[in-house]
Amino acid sequence: MRNVRPNHSAMGSLNAGTPWWAGLVVLLWCLTTSFTFAADVELGDAEKDCLACHDKEGVKKVLQNGEVLSMRISTKAYLESMHNETACEDCHADLDAKTHGKVKSDIKSKRDFTLAQGNACRDCHKKKYVQYDDSVHAAMVKEGNEKAPLCSDCHNPHTVRSFKEVQPIEATPCVKCHEAIFKAYSKDVHGLERIAKGKSAPLCADCHQAHDVKAASMGDGVKDTCLSCHKEAVAQHQDWLPNTGLHFASISCPACHVPTAQRRVNLRLFDAGKNVQLSEKTGVPKFESLTDAADGAGMGLDERALWSLLKEFNQEGAPGKTVLRGRLEVKSGVEAHQLSEKEKAIKDCNACHQAGAAPFQSVTLTIAGPDGRPLRHGVQKEVLSSLTSMNSVRGFYAIGSTRIKLLDILLVMVLAGAVCVPIGHMTIKRLFKGVRERLEAERLAAAAAGDAATPGAPSPSEQAPK
Ligand code: HEC
Ligand code: HEC
Ligand code: HEC
Ligand code: HEC
Ligand code: HEC
Ligand code: HEC
Ligand code: HEC
Ligand code: HEC
Ligand code: HEC
Repeated sequence: MRNVRPNHSAMGSLNAGTPWWAGLVVLLWCLTTSFTFAADVELGDAEKDCLACHDKEGVKKVLQNGEVLSMRISTKAYLESMHNETACEDCHADLDAKTHGKVKSDIKSKRDFTLAQGNACRDCHKKKYVQYDDSVHAAMVKEGNEKAPLCSDCHNPHTVRSFKEVQPIEATPCVKCHEAIFKAYSKDVHGLERIAKGKSAPLCADCHQAHDVKAASMGDGVKDTCLSCHKEAVAQHQDWLPNTGLHFASISCPACHVPTAQRRVNLRLFDAGKNVQLSEKTGVPKFESLTDAADGAGMGLDERALWSLLKEFNQEGAPGKTVLRGRLEVKSGVEAHQLSEKEKAIKDCNACHQAGAAPFQSVTLTIAGPDGRPLRHGVQKEVLSSLTSMNSVRGFYAIGSTRIKLLDILLVMVLAGAVCVPIGHMTIKRLFKGVRERLEAERLAAAAAGDAATPGAPSPSEQAPK
């Protein structure tokens, strides 16, 4: 096998008995190869030996399940990669030199092979390992999910380039598994900005992390990342949106910034003590069995079912520990990546604050599954406005009912004010309208803050359903 060598392998055979002109040959060799290979890196003898067999057209292996695995490793790409100074054996320590290449090895499938190589990166990239280990992807791998990525699904170890190089967006490793989302992203404000101007706008990993990827609708991770770039955003919203903090906490950014999206209310089972979304214990599937049992007809949970479910979850630990927190979000992952220009964002209070508003017609209940991704079950929309579920839904019930009535009255007052004014003064009136609305809104927000100061004790009139 050793006589099949890559054409530049002369380097490997230099020794004490080498004639005087060998130095010149080497010098020439270095000069010419440095044109072909960007870095002045030289492969070790062992690597050249491996590549003598492995950098050949058409080397492949048929695996036990019939898949064909290409065995070709490009010398050129390897030399240009970040691992050009890493020895093959650093990652392939398990090969048996005596039998390798002569005796066929048993590999069941590509996935099996990838899993078997899974620890190859651990020694040198410990930090990334620790981060990755805490991700939804790693959790899915541990559960036996065949489609979740390992290191080498996102980084080809033989061709990996520096992430400091600006690459076209299609080169990001997330594309191959989240194609529909990528397509949506590539046409939204960030995708277009990224294509036009390079790195200023975020790509997948800038919003979701590359290694410590968490379920997107859990926690505040993504929202905080948005605000870390858009530092002025809070103040800009405060100009027109009363109680911006509450709105940001209970509405996902895309729910307003993707005007075409369908929306829903996500009632999240929350651990009020720890202030995190409640998660299913590994190996004790409770959520699905309970919700399925309570919703035999599959019509969605009604308020009674929701109430007893909550009671069930509250049996462990302190009573009242498990609560529901509402969150308005878009219905699909694709829709979350269709952010448009600010002019198109939803500003109309009525889009949400009126009886029967579209976003409140679809309701889902979630808990964090064992891998961190949400498990869902449908809920009947009436739950949001019903009186008896008030306790379980905590305040979110207010949408489309009581406090919103207050808002309706406010809007009526604004409109009535405009009508009373003589037509000739309409223009002046319009100029003041913005200021007036803001004042009204602030008043309302102050009133709401007063409300919030006495939680759990709403006045009787407030309790009345619409
Ligand atoms: C004599 C040629 C030859 C040399 C030299 C050689 N290989 Fe291979 N290698 C093969 C062949 C042939 C296969 C496919 C074996 C099979 O079909 O089971 C293979 C398979 C592999 C595989 C797939 C896993 C497996 O066990 O089948 C890896 C990884 C690998 N070689 C790495 C290396 C590395 C690293 C070196 C250098 C240390 C090396 N090879 C040197 C011929 C060679
Ligand atoms: C940084 C670690 C690392 C280095 C260095 C490395 N490999 Fe690999 N190699 C891997 C991993 C991980 C896989 C499994 C990839 C997968 O899942 O398909 C692999 C797979 C392979 C395969 C099977 C074909 C394939 O692409 O899956 C061959 C052949 C191979 N390596 C040869 C080599 C040779 C030859 C060298 C040195 C020139 C080398 N490797 C250097 C990590 C490494
Ligand atoms: C023997 C040590 C070693 C092993 C094992 C190893 N790497 Fe590396 N890796 C390096 C070195 C050295 C670099 C060069 C850049 C640096 O200093 O981080 C690098 C760079 C990288 C980069 C590019 C970083 C950048 O700057 O953009 C990625 C990605 C990477 N490795 C992934 C992997 C993966 C995936 C594996 C396992 C299949 C692996 N590495 C295994 C040593 C190693
Ligand atoms: C889901 C895809 C994905 C997986 C899985 C993944 N990475 Fe990465 N990795 C990325 C992306 C994207 C980047 C570059 C962007 C960034 O760091 O934000 C990156 C960057 C890196 C870098 C260079 C970053 C730096 O800061 O220098 C290294 C090294 C690396 N990964 C190693 C690993 C190792 C080791 C594993 C397995 C434990 C792994 N990656 C798993 C997607 C992934
Ligand atoms: C500007 C930040 C941002 C960028 C860039 C981004 N995402 Fe997202 N992603 C989000 C937000 C926000 C959500 C929805 C979270 C929520 O429910 O509030 C989301 C949701 C997701 C989900 C979950 C979908 C579901 O079914 O619930 C996946 C998967 C995802 N993104 C992958 C990607 C991929 C792949 C890319 C790159 C093509 C990407 N994201 C780029 C912000 C971003
Ligand atoms: C090898 C395939 C693969 C690659 C590569 C990959 N993912 Fe995933 N990812 C999955 C699978 C499978 C799931 C679970 C199904 C789903 O939610 O789409 C998932 C789930 C997710 C989720 C959680 C979805 C939720 O419910 O909130 C996020 C976020 C995510 N991926 C982001 C990324 C990002 C960012 C990258 C690139 C850095 C990436 N993924 C690369 C396969 C992959
Ligand atoms: C209730 C709906 C709503 C929510 C929730 C919302 N936005 Fe907005 N946002 C808007 C509207 C409407 C505008 C345009 C305001 C204008 O032009 O006067 C806007 C403007 C912006 C702008 C442009 C600011 C400027 O003037 O340049 C950014 C950036 C932005 N939003 C980010 C976010 C982020 C990040 C979140 C989540 C934390 C978020 N928005 C949540 C409705 C919303
Ligand atoms: C890495 C920084 C970064 C992150 C993270 C980020 N953005 Fe952006 N965003 C940009 C840049 C750059 C632009 C384009 C320039 C501009 O309009 O400000 C932009 C544009 C926008 C616009 C259009 C503003 C306009 O003037 O029309 C909106 C809306 C927006 N982002 C919302 C979000 C939301 C929501 C998130 C989180 C899900 C987010 N951004 C995360 C950098 C970021
Ligand atoms: C995309 C939907 C949406 C839009 C648009 C929207 N809101 Fe809200 N609003 C909500 C949600 C959700 C809550 C939180 C309700 C809860 O948690 O009880 C809320 C809460 C409020 C509250 C606090 C009420 C309370 O219960 O304390 C006020 C005041 C308010 N909104 C006024 C406005 C005004 C004024 C506008 C227009 C400038 C507006 N909202 C636009 C969805 C929206």
